[in-house]
Amino acid sequence: MNGFQEISPLQLQENPFDLIGRQWALLTAADETGANTMTISWGGVGVLWGKQVVFAFVRPQRHTLPFMEHAGRFTLSFFDESYREKLSYCGTVSGRDEDKIAKCGFTVHQEDGAVCFHEARLALVCRKLYVQDLKEECFTDPKVALQNYAEKDYHRMFIGEIEKVLKAVD
Ligand SMILES: Cc1cc2nc3c(=O)[nH]c(=O)nc-3n(C[C@H](O)[C@H](O)[C@H](O)COP(=O)(O)O)c2cc1C
Repeated sequence: MNGFQEISPLQLQENPFDLIGRQWALLTAADETGANTMTISWGGVGVLWGKQVVFAFVRPQRHTLPFMEHAGRFTLSFFDESYREKLSYCGTVSGRDEDKIAKCGFTVHQEDGAVCFHEARLALVCRKLYVQDLKEECFTDPKVALQNYAEKDYHRMFIGEIEKVLKAVD
């Protein structure tokens, strides 16, 4: 189990394409009933409105969505390769059916009302700034919409300001 030290986003030495697209993350949000987490591999980090931000995309059928809508903050947690199986599980089973956090044996770390996990090697604590559904008519390449949204279940985009970067310390 890790303790965390806070570092500045500018101290991050990660490749975002590898970090999010290949290593994957757990997107976690909480309400007064508890927290839910799901695996994501689409999203980004960048700069918007003069702030360091995260972009995350959640389909409407995800159990995590109402938590994301309710919460003022959300987190992205990143793990080392030994957690790949747990991330696969959190990306295939719904929190509607199982308590994924308990089943994975994760230890909850609370940070400013947000939830991340002590087992993570890195966590981004984000304050929600902007929420918008992707729209069919906004795709400039209709193939992308066809290939990704056969069910017309367009992602809801969440943009969050990175308030804290928590790096594991041994
Ligand atoms: C590698 C991987 C990446 C995923 N990326 C996303 C994503 O970016 N957005 C999304 O809505 N679902 C994504 N999913 C699917 C959700 O993680 C999955 O449907 C999960 O079971 C939802 O859990 P929930 O119902 O508890 O929210 C991904 C799944 C995997 C395995």
